[in-house]
Amino acid sequence: MRTSQHRRLLWKCLLPGLPLLAALLIVHWGAQASSATQGGGPKQLENADVGDCAACHGPAMSLPKDHPTTKGQARKDCDKCHNGKKAATLRGKLPLSHLHALGGVSCADCHGSGDKSAVGTEKCFECHESGEAVAKLTVPQDKVHNNPHDSPHYGTDLDCVLCHHAHAKSENYCSQCHEKTQVVP
Ligand code: HEC
Ligand code: HEC
Ligand code: HEC
Ligand code: HEC
Ligand code: HEC
Ligand code: HEC
Repeated sequence: MRTSQHRRLLWKCLLPGLPLLAALLIVHWGAQASSATQGGGPKQLENADVGDCAACHGPAMSLPKDHPTTKGQARKDCDKCHNGKKAATLRGKLPLSHLHALGGVSCADCHGSGDKSAVGTEKCFECHESGEAVAKLTVPQDKVHNNPHDSPHYGTDLDCVLCHHAHAKSENYCSQCHEKTQVVP
């Protein structure tokens, strides 16, 4: 086969894959989120207004084009629309660091001042009390789902950070084995 034919054939095989590849790269933010903070990614500015997306993300941050301005807003403002009726809830759409910032919880509230290092379950309990306390908030409203905070296997005794990640996409530990599991904020 001549080289030019060879090349054309190669492109024919590759082209259909390209949009899929691009989509995967865009959609799958979780795995890259922490590395994205280095180099060209969003900045972790301690004192930025969380509603001012561009302060850290730059102009590329794409809320939908006709989205109302979010500067100066807190979670209760967002949830006037993001209540699952007018617009999808923000759970799973934003990192947990953002959901906390929108609820008035700062970087220092979790990390203290100075150097940042990973935060564990003990710290979560300073505000969220205990496994039993969060289990009371998530008693399932249907017969399909389980209470993620109270299971026959682990009781109310699982490390929060097995599911909840502050700076990367959270994951549901139970979905290793159970199909119908909830989105983890
Ligand atoms: C006046 C209504 C309104 C307010 C207030 C509002 N939004 Fe939205 N938002 C929308 C609509 C409508 C969409 C697009 C439809 C959808 O995602 O369900 C949207 C989409 C988004 C998306 C993209 C969601 C996706 O599926 O990718 C994000 C992220 C978002 N909004 C964040 C926020 C944040 C953060 C706030 C508060 C600081 C906020 N919005 C306040 C109406 C609003
Ligand atoms: C709800 C508590 C919480 C808040 C608020 C929070 N973080 Fe974190 N942070 C964590 C946890 C938990 C980790 C471990 C990695 C993870 O879960 O994503 C972490 C990891 C980090 C790390 C990397 C350390 C490592 O070992 O990987 C840095 C840097 C950091 N946070 C900075 C910040 C900054 C800056 C803010 C404010 C914009 C902030 N954090 C807000 C909980 C928090
Ligand atoms: C300084 C207090 C504080 C600490 C520490 C803290 N949180 Fe929170 N958390 C809050 C507040 C306040 C809210 C928002 C409540 C609201 O807006 O109704 C919240 C909300 C949440 C939510 C619900 C998010 C949503 O909007 O759906 C989750 C999940 C959560 N926290 C998990 C954690 C985990 C895991 C840790 C430990 C890594 C942690 N929190 C540490 C105060 C804290
Ligand atoms: C097995 C995974 C998993 C673990 C471990 C876990 N969570 Fe959750 N968490 C979830 C899921 C899923 C939701 C959303 C539940 C829903 O949609 O009803 C949630 C919701 C929450 C909420 C919001 C509750 C509300 O008002 O709706 C808080 C706060 C929270 N978790 C805190 C914690 C804390 C603190 C810990 C550690 C003690 C923890 N979680 C451990 C999966 C987990
Ligand atoms: C204080 C700086 C800061 C502000 C303000 C901020 N972000 Fe972020 N954002 C980050 C950082 C840093 C990350 C990487 C994950 C992490 O560290 O939590 C991130 C991650 C994200 C992600 C996950 C995908 C990605 O790009 O990595 C989304 C979606 C997002 N931000 C949306 C928003 C929206 C919408 C707003 C405005 C309502 C906003 N952010 C405001 C710093 C910020
Ligand atoms: C390593 C696999 C595995 C993991 C991880 C796991 N489960 Fe299970 N779970 C099982 C098996 C197997 C059964 C038994 C199923 C049966 O008897 O039909 C079960 C049964 C249950 C039951 C009894 C009722 C039912 O639905 O059958 C509940 C409730 C439950 N799991 C909740 C959870 C929750 C919540 C989590 C996450 C915190 C979790 N599981 C994580 C494997 C797992």
